[in-house]
Amino acid sequence: MKISVFGTGYVGLVTAVCLAESGNEVIAVDIDENKINLLKEGIPPIYEKGLEELLKWNLKNNRLKFTTDPALAVESSHIIFIAVGTPSNPDGSCNLTYVFDCVNTIKKYANNEKIIVIKSTVPVGTANKAKEIVKDSKHKIYVCSNPEFLKEGVAIEDFMKPDRVVIGADNDYVFEVMRELYAPFVRNEKPIISMDNESAEMTKYAANALLAVKISFMNEIALLCEKVNADVEMVRKGVGADYRIGYQFLFPGVGFGGSCFPKDVRALIHLAEENDFDLMIPKSAYNVNERQKRHLLNKIFDFFGEDLSDKTFGIWGLSFKPNTDDMREAPSIVIINGLLSAGAKVRAFDPKAMEEAKKIFGEKIYYAESDYDALSGADAMILITEWQEFRNPDFDKIKKLLKRPVIFDGRNQYSPRKMKELGFKYYGIGRKNV
Ligand SMILES: NC(=O)c1ccc[n+]([C@@H]2O[C@H](COP(=O)([O-])OP(=O)(O)OC[C@H]3O[C@@H](n4cnc5c(N)ncnc54)[C@H](O)[C@@H]3O)[C@@H](O)[C@H]2O)c1
Repeated sequence: MKISVFGTGYVGLVTAVCLAESGNEVIAVDIDENKINLLKEGIPPIYEKGLEELLKWNLKNNRLKFTTDPALAVESSHIIFIAVGTPSNPDGSCNLTYVFDCVNTIKKYANNEKIIVIKSTVPVGTANKAKEIVKDSKHKIYVCSNPEFLKEGVAIEDFMKPDRVVIGADNDYVFEVMRELYAPFVRNEKPIISMDNESAEMTKYAANALLAVKISFMNEIALLCEKVNADVEMVRKGVGADYRIGYQFLFPGVGFGGSCFPKDVRALIHLAEENDFDLMIPKSAYNVNERQKRHLLNKIFDFFGEDLSDKTFGIWGLSFKPNTDDMREAPSIVIINGLLSAGAKVRAFDPKAMEEAKKIFGEKIYYAESDYDALSGADAMILITEWQEFRNPDFDKIKKLLKRPVIFDGRNQYSPRKMKELGFKYYGIGRKNV
């Protein structure tokens, strides 16, 4: 099939590469010339496991092309994915400027029948607005909603083997084309679920909000555990063993971040408000998360006092979760800014997100050469992102490097008992005093 993809970010690039890998001819288009130049050379502008190999292979085999020319992309394709950003407006609503720019561009350059596939996360009603825009086109332009559920860090795997594919449309022909396109990815009998556009749009928000609720719920239980001296790690094991609940998204920590959960929960709350409806559960989940992002910081203030002007902190992990370089709405930003405002110095290390961190903090922090370099001479270690390589460190070395043996563990990676035995002052999230 002949496909183009608007937007070469985390979703668009993965979509383009995976659709090319299944034999389609794909043109990916972006307004960011630097990104396109890198991609033409086979260099991914983002870190995502397995992406570089697929990118290089499909470029070499001429199934994948990159351009900044939207006319070329539209004219040479039948199915056109929109995977551009949908950031938050200041009032929490979803900014659809980029999506509608693409719809207008597609209408402008359409030279025959097109199927617009909206993959960006968009509020209910967006596909209908897109249909309004294209309805007076000379050529037939269909609008399909196809929300994306991939997780950064395992995005390629998620796209190649999705749990489900959701297709929203009002036309059997569109369902048929989309089923054919996705058939190679659901050979393991995972469902392609067809529905109307509005329900498809809502499915994405409902899924993200529910996951956000699960995280915030466990974070709130963790704070109560601290008050009553229960151990949230034990509670998590006991709760997650119930097959109706499961273990996923039950890990207490420093709060959720990333480019999706915070903005999508906000957009869902806004959609409800626009419809005179008080969406109480997602609203609470959002507020709990805001509190959670400052929880570790408050523990640091409790220990060292609120004036940190003579203190240095060694930070492990900056990305909003492991296996990505994405720092959008990362809890590390709140924690580091909180430390800097209290006068502290920060030495930070992340396996993949150092370049992104430089864009955010500039000269304000020291970018360590390695995890252990971040701890050299620091008053305490703070673990924010649970990268695999931080799970089993050399604690003797850590103790020698730190000025004082103090660890704030925002992801409950270490055992409080073992930390005590090794002579550390250890603070996790919702852990029992030992
Ligand atoms: N990142 C995720 O994990 C994830 C998962 C599921 C869904 N989503 C949704 O997918 C969408 C894209 O997210 P992302 O993280 O890939 O965004 P991103 O910010 O990484 O990438 C968006 C890209 O779109 C480009 N762009 C903007 N306007 C354009 C235009 N007119 N023509 C061509 N390109 C244009 C930008 O230059 C940028 O490269 C969002 O709606 C997001 O909510 C994201």
